[in-house]
Amino acid sequence: MKARITVLPGDGIGPEVTGEAVKVLEHVGQVFGHEFEFKEALLGGCAIDATGTALPDETVAACRAADAVLLGAVGGPKWDDPTAKVRPEQGLLGIRKALGLFANLRPVKLFPELLHASTLRPETLAGVDVLVVRELTGGVYFGPREEAGEDGSRAYDTMLYTRPEIERVVRLAAKAAQGRRGQLTSVDKANVLASSRLWRRVATEVVESEFPDVRLEHILVDAAAMHLIRQPSRFDVIVTGNLFGDILTDEASMLAGSMGMLPSASLGEDVNSVGLPRGLYEPIHGSAPDIAGQGVANPLAAILSAAMLLRHSLGLEQEAKTVEEAVSAVLSDGYRTADIARSGERTVGTEEMGTAVRERIR
Ligand code: IPM
Ligand code: MG
Repeated sequence: MKARITVLPGDGIGPEVTGEAVKVLEHVGQVFGHEFEFKEALLGGCAIDATGTALPDETVAACRAADAVLLGAVGGPKWDDPTAKVRPEQGLLGIRKALGLFANLRPVKLFPELLHASTLRPETLAGVDVLVVRELTGGVYFGPREEAGEDGSRAYDTMLYTRPEIERVVRLAAKAAQGRRGQLTSVDKANVLASSRLWRRVATEVVESEFPDVRLEHILVDAAAMHLIRQPSRFDVIVTGNLFGDILTDEASMLAGSMGMLPSASLGEDVNSVGLPRGLYEPIHGSAPDIAGQGVANPLAAILSAAMLLRHSLGLEQEAKTVEEAVSAVLSDGYRTADIARSGERTVGTEEMGTAVRERIR
């Protein structure tokens, strides 16, 4: 097959880890006989430096013209001034919105080799396999706001959800649950928030009327945070709003030992030339400015994001599995970047890890 992939390396360790993910995709193309064409564009701090805006029009156009988008990370101390008018994060939120990517899939699966890398006890982690579906283009991230009143003494954000916004993300999550263990947990704060009460009502309606085979439960977000570390294996698919999903997925990433292991896929309604969602794929870790440019970042989350790209946007399930198995294999063979190594264990750098993965894709 032929596919066009736009790459947004971004800031910090973004360019290093997406570099390895692109090399893995190129290698997959050679082994399986596909032609992937890559095009780079600017997003985040690097875009601010070059153009004055975090999301240049050319970047949006390059993403719209692609079959899928691979993203590194945005942000860093250089652009951290909270009073600045332009911030790298605006680029990330802007591209999600511009491409209509309303659902963010964050699978949390444990590689047995990394059991020790988590701060939780191995018996707590047994059987963990959770998919968090986070609403990505609504809620308090995008609601009406005031930055600071006349005299700078007040500010507000609004958590606003509409029925169609809730329906489409719950539908996508329920479908995912059908293909897994059939259990869907909707997370909200319905005991306090009006938007959560609407969320809960709509989620119930969608699942009862369209997915009779899916078991739906509702949990309050504070309790969900607790259950995630008390008994994480009780969860199959979790669906929740933008802010709750942001917080819970950082927590959930610790089940897998390191943020450096977790990929994500953001999907919307737009369809690409293959007839599948034109998704955006990114590791959930940030730009990690403290280790940027040193060649030590873990590229596995970016590589696993590339595997999700093959699966969800290109329909290449066998290729995706091959990449995931190669990642398992490098871990079994003892390859560790610093974030997942035990003290005293030999560590490898970003490139060596990427090369080891490629060598196992034949
Ligand atoms: C994430 C990040 C972003 C978010 C930030 C960088 C704006 O934390 O993708 O989880 O809050 O969505
Ligand atoms: Mg986050």
